[in-house]
Amino acid sequence: MTLQIKNLEEYNEAYKHSVDDPEGFWAEQAETFKWMKKWDEVLEWDFKGPDVKWFKGGKLNITENCLDRHLEDRADQVAILWEPNDPKADVIAYTYKELHEAVCKAANALKANGVEKGDRVCFYMPMVPELAIGVLACARIGAVHSVVFAGFSSSALADRIKDATCKMVICSDYNHRGTKNIPVKNVVDEAIGMGCDSVETVLVHKNTGADIAWNDKLDKWWHDEVDNQSADCPAEQMDAEDMLFILYTSGSTGKPKGVVHTCGGYMVYTCFSFKNVFQYKEGDVYWCTADIGWITGHSYIVYGPLLAGATTMMFEGVPTYPDAGRFWEICDKHRVNQFYTAPTAIRALMAQGDEYVDKYDLSSLKVIGSVGEPINEEAWNWYNQKVGRGNAPIVDTWWQTETGGILISPLPGITDTKPCYASYPLPGVQPVLLDADGNLIEGNDVEGLLCMKFPWPSILRTTYGEHERCRQVYFSSFENMYFTGDGARRDANGRYRVIGRVDDVINVSGHRMGTAEVENAINEHDNIVESAVVGYPHDIKGQGIYAYVITNHAITDEEAFRKEIKAVVTKMIGPIAKPDMIQIVPGLPKTRSGKIMRRILRKVASGKSDELGDTSTLLNPEIVEAVKEGAAALKKG
Ligand code: PRX
Repeated sequence: MTLQIKNLEEYNEAYKHSVDDPEGFWAEQAETFKWMKKWDEVLEWDFKGPDVKWFKGGKLNITENCLDRHLEDRADQVAILWEPNDPKADVIAYTYKELHEAVCKAANALKANGVEKGDRVCFYMPMVPELAIGVLACARIGAVHSVVFAGFSSSALADRIKDATCKMVICSDYNHRGTKNIPVKNVVDEAIGMGCDSVETVLVHKNTGADIAWNDKLDKWWHDEVDNQSADCPAEQMDAEDMLFILYTSGSTGKPKGVVHTCGGYMVYTCFSFKNVFQYKEGDVYWCTADIGWITGHSYIVYGPLLAGATTMMFEGVPTYPDAGRFWEICDKHRVNQFYTAPTAIRALMAQGDEYVDKYDLSSLKVIGSVGEPINEEAWNWYNQKVGRGNAPIVDTWWQTETGGILISPLPGITDTKPCYASYPLPGVQPVLLDADGNLIEGNDVEGLLCMKFPWPSILRTTYGEHERCRQVYFSSFENMYFTGDGARRDANGRYRVIGRVDDVINVSGHRMGTAEVENAINEHDNIVESAVVGYPHDIKGQGIYAYVITNHAITDEEAFRKEIKAVVTKMIGPIAKPDMIQIVPGLPKTRSGKIMRRILRKVASGKSDELGDTSTLLNPEIVEAVKEGAAALKKG
C-alpha cells in the first residue's frame, strides 16, 4: 500500500528521501498501484516547455485502481455514501462491488452512444452518485471528463463545451438544493442552443422527475441507456500521460482555461496525499463537502479516497438546510471521522450561533480540514473548539486546480498546527519564495511569491488547446519555476502561510474568479462604458466583489441599475460572480500609459482611502477624490 507516514521522524525521513531522490521516492509509491505495463522512466521534465512526464511509458487505468483492485478485500465495504438534500429521504450506499458494476454499466452506455477513448464528455450535474459514476465511467473507457459546476450559467457552460468540443453532455433534469429546485436540463438546452455543435448526445439523469423539454435528436435518459448494459466493461489501457480530465478555472486574463491532468501522476499523488493528510484508517468514514465541479471534489471526493479504498461521502444539499446544524447533524449521524470543508462555510455557520453545533455528538471526528482560501484566526479557533472540540487537528490544506492535489498541509497528529498556517510541504513538494525580480528569498520569517522548483506527480501538464498560455501563465514569470500566483510567508519554523493571490484573481467564498472575467460580463450591459473589478475583505465570503462602473448616460434609479448589472453577470457567468458592491464612477484612476490603477481601487474598496499614497503621477489624479467620495456614500447606503 501507498506509504502512510505515522510520526514526525517518518515525515522527515520521507521528505528528505523525496528531495534527495525524487524518482526513487515516487517509484516506490507508484509500485503500490496496479499497472498494465510498468513505466520506462519515472520522470522527465523541463519547465521551459513546459514538458513534464511522470511514469513515462507506463500503462494503467485509474478505475482499476479505484475499483477492481478493491474487489478482493473490500467488495462489500461502502465506497460511496450519499446523503440527500432532504434529511428525511433515504441515504444511498454503493459498496465497492456495486460501484464497480454501476461504473461498468455506465461505461458501456457511453460506448454504445459512440463515446471513444480521447473524446471529451461534459458533466453538468448536481451532487448525485451518478456524477461520480459517470466520471469514473469516462475514465474506464479513456474518455476525458470535463465537469462544469452546476452553478455556472448556460453561457459559461457553452463556452466550456465549445472549448473542449465535447461529444456528450451528461446532466440531470433538476437539482434539489435546500428549498430550491433548479432546472439543470433547461440550462443545458440553452447552452446547446448557443452553438455547441460538437454535442451528439445529452444524457439526462432523472433526479427529481419534474417535467423537462425534450429534444428527440439529442436527448436520452440515463436509465434507458445505462440500466440494461452489461456490468462487465474491461478497462481501457491508458498511457500514464494520457489525459484523464479537463477542469476549467479562472485566471487573470478573460477566458477560463482548461487545466489538464493526466492518468499516472494524478493517480499516485491524489492517493498519497489523501492517505497522509487525512490519516485515513480502515473503516473510517470520510466526508468532503466540496462539489465535484471543483478540483477538491475530483481529487478528494472521487479519486483520492477511492484509490485508497476509503468510504467517501457525497452530500447533495447545502450547509444551511433545513438549518445551520446540517453539517454537524450529518457528522453525528454517519459518525464521520474526517471532515473537510471551506473557510467560507465555517464562517457562515459560525455566524449562525453555537447552538447549532453544540447539540451534536462530534466525538467521531479525528481530523478536520480546510481548503480553498485563507482561513482567518477567528474561524480557525471556532472550528478547532466547536467542531474539533480540541481533539481533532485542523489540516489547513493549500493547493490549486493546477496542482491536482494538496501540496502544503499539516499532517494531523504528526506535524504541529498553527492558526492560518498551511504549514509544511508534503513529501515531494519543494516550495520556494521569490522576490518580484525572481531572487530566491532564503531563511525564515520572510515573505515572497510562492513558487515550486521541482515537479510533483500531479502538476498540470497543459491548458487544453493552449500550451503556450500554460507556459506563459505558470512557467514564464521565473526561470525553471512553477509560479502559483500566491503570496506567502514562511515563519521562524519554516511553516508556510499562504496570504492570497498576487494577480488579478479573487477568491470569493473559496471560488476563484478572474476580475477580467467579471468585467467582461458587466461590460455586456448596454449602459456600461468601462468597468473595473477588485476584491475587498468580506466577513463571510473571505473576499467580496467590488465593481466600479462608468455609465454611458446618467442613471436615475440606481437600485434598479445595480440589479440589472447583477442580472447580466448571473447570465454570463453565474450567481457566484455577482458583484456585492457596485459603485458608479465618473472615471477610473489610470496611469499615464492608460492602465487602470487597481491598487488604488482595492484600497478604496477595502475602506482604506486614507492609505493611497502619492496619486499625483496619475493621468487623472482628480478622479481619485470622486471615487473616494462615491465609495463613502455607497458604504453609508
Ligand atoms: O489563492 C489560493 C487559494 O485558492 C487558490 C486556488 O484556487 P482553486 O484552483 O480554485 O483551488 C481551490 C481548492 C484547492 C490558491 O491559489 N487557496 C487554496 N487553498 C488555500 C488557499 N489560500 C490559503 N490557504 C489555503 N489553504
